[in-house]
Amino acid sequence: MKISILRERLAHETRVAGTPETVRKLVALGLEVCIERGAGKAAFMTDETYKEAGARLADTARAALSDADIIFCVQRPNPDDLVHFKLGAMLIGMLTPFQDPAGIAAYAAHQINAFAMELMPRITRAQSMDVLSSQSNLAGYRAVIEACYVFARAMPMMMTPGGTIAPARVLVMGAGVAGLQAIATARRLGAVVSATDVRLAAKEQVESLGGKFVMVDSEAMAQAETEGGYAREMSEEFKCKQAALIAETLAKQDIAICTALIPGRRAPVLITEEMVRSMKPGSVIVDLAAEQGGNCALSQEGECVEFGGVTIIGYRNMPGRLATDASSLYAKNLLNFLTPLIGADGALMIDLQDEIIRETALTRGGQIVHASLQTEVA
Ligand code: NAI
Repeated sequence: MKISILRERLAHETRVAGTPETVRKLVALGLEVCIERGAGKAAFMTDETYKEAGARLADTARAALSDADIIFCVQRPNPDDLVHFKLGAMLIGMLTPFQDPAGIAAYAAHQINAFAMELMPRITRAQSMDVLSSQSNLAGYRAVIEACYVFARAMPMMMTPGGTIAPARVLVMGAGVAGLQAIATARRLGAVVSATDVRLAAKEQVESLGGKFVMVDSEAMAQAETEGGYAREMSEEFKCKQAALIAETLAKQDIAICTALIPGRRAPVLITEEMVRSMKPGSVIVDLAAEQGGNCALSQEGECVEFGGVTIIGYRNMPGRLATDASSLYAKNLLNFLTPLIGADGALMIDLQDEIIRETALTRGGQIVHASLQTEVA
């Protein structure tokens, strides 16, 4: 059985869906591995190292795709390449199922069995396959590093003969995977950190990392978590209380790291223009939610902008700024997803009743099969 790893086509995508380490493990599973030439270049993984790990190199996507039974990618493949997929080939990647209905219909039309890794259920068995966690963790770390880079002051308190430097004050909004890593990183750098979330469970986690939890309304927050561990959209009353508290807290901060998301919806706006105006010149906002509309009303997706002396960073693909580690963890997530599907005889064994398969499968046999996307493709 042949598996191919494609070179990413989208602008600014530096990650790769396989590393020499995972290639070696795929070969050990009995798979024939093919990688498109240059696929690992931006993540500092050379064609030579893939070859040494047992992969064959293909000069083009078309050559990589020819006869491939399984295709690994980071982001969705080039639509023009879908014609080169073998009928019934398995495509595994971050396929943005809710933002790309035409793409999903095209996978069905080309008889591709597509799996979206973002839809991995948050169950213990699937933790090692959870791409949102592996990538968000790195994004949270990098957000703090980006903030430090443009912040014209130091993070830790410094007592010097010339005088004392006060520690930076950092507010993290959204204490999920990215937010908790941002708190840990800012604390390690010596900042005074506070954080807010709508889920009450986040309080203990923030405090265990040495952050101060900014509590809005404990009663409403106790109901804010879905069964899957995600946040719900909150009531208007809650949003007003939260806005008042954030306005008061934010004016005293130097750096705000925004990570608040609600699955399948536009990110909640937590920092208004007026709140940005209340911040001290030299303050920094890093908005990890910029690609989902932004937690800050003034964020511009993909840009670093300045407003009244406040720098607002809305870069896309923050994990891609740590291309080597992001690729390494992502490639392991894919390997961990695929390994249980390969039988002792080297053939694919897909149990359609398995929760992991059911939740991630988008298309099969020419149809869209995911419960939240289902429509028949003629
Ligand atoms: P996410 O990326 O969807 O959201 C980030 C954070 O923003 C969440 O903590 C959310 O509660 C918060 N948020 C949403 N709206 C907000 C608002 N208006 N104001 C302030 N904060 C707001 O979530 P993420 O980081 O992917 O994880 C969510 C939960 O899932 C966490 O509890 C995490 O521990 C849990 N989890 C469980 C896993 C497992 O059991 N396999 C794996 C990974 C995460």
